[in-house]
Amino acid sequence: MSEIIALCNQKGGVGKTTCALNIAAGLERMGEKVLLIDLDPQAHLTYSLGIPAHELQRTVLDLFKGTHGLTDTLLAVEGLAVVPSSLDLAGLDMELAGTPGREFILRESLSQADGFAYILIDCPPSLGILTLNALTAAREIYIPLQTEFLALKGMSKLIETIDTVKRRLNRDLEITGIIGTRYDARRKLNKGIMETIGERFGDKLFKTIIRENISLAEAPGYGQTIFRYAPKSHGAEDFLALAGEIVARKRPAPAPETGGLSA
Ligand SMILES: Nc1ncnc2c1ncn2[C@@H]1O[C@H](COP(=O)(O)OP(=O)(O)OP(=O)(O)O)[C@@H](O)[C@H]1O
Ligand SMILES: [Mg+2]
Repeated sequence: MSEIIALCNQKGGVGKTTCALNIAAGLERMGEKVLLIDLDPQAHLTYSLGIPAHELQRTVLDLFKGTHGLTDTLLAVEGLAVVPSSLDLAGLDMELAGTPGREFILRESLSQADGFAYILIDCPPSLGILTLNALTAAREIYIPLQTEFLALKGMSKLIETIDTVKRRLNRDLEITGIIGTRYDARRKLNKGIMETIGERFGDKLFKTIIRENISLAEAPGYGQTIFRYAPKSHGAEDFLALAGEIVARKRPAPAPETGGLSA
């Protein structure tokens, strides 16, 4: 069974895509088989791997339209399997309005995924139908938080959405990881904010904090993960450490339904 993890925060630019991509690449370097899903109409993850989203025939949009299944949309890049995004995903909210069960489409598609230890879903910076699909398909949520003033602003809305999804659509869903990103130890503010996040989230907060690192900002422009672009950088070091923590924390599978009978 795959660990299905959604990287989610409706706040823009906090490091969701950078984390999804480089955690996946870190896990791959540790010998894990990983599937990456770009669920953002901005297609940043797709472009960051050097895949020209605007030229693709088959994308994640096909899963939502039902025109192709998961295996037909997969691309192989840097040892990862990737379902690329489509810029046309932007109209999906409207297109799916009125479609019954529209929150379950991704979950259904992922049931075809075979042999992946991890499936990572890069969410867009909104709480629309795409993010709802990710939250319905996933068992775990990682929330990247930029170590900046206002980092926690908007968290209550995110947590409320997650609670609703958990209640109505996916009872196995849990926030299991908080990732501090873009950390600069020279800035007192960053340090203080990490402490606040630690107090609020306890051991859900990963010990590895992703430092601000220029190579992490440059690598997408070269269509490469941090491990290919700058394997000796702080960015590579941090994401390998984070991947190590993720593997070490692997969650046990949920207990099978007993149908209400107790032994
Ligand atoms: N640790 C880091 N050091 C330096 N730059 C970073 C770091 N993490 C992310 N960035 C840069 O910050 C910008 C935003 O990061 P990213 O795209 O990962 O955020 P996001 O949450 O996915 O954004 P969006 O909400 O638009 O999808 C990008 O230009 C990225 O290269
Ligand atoms: Mg992004």
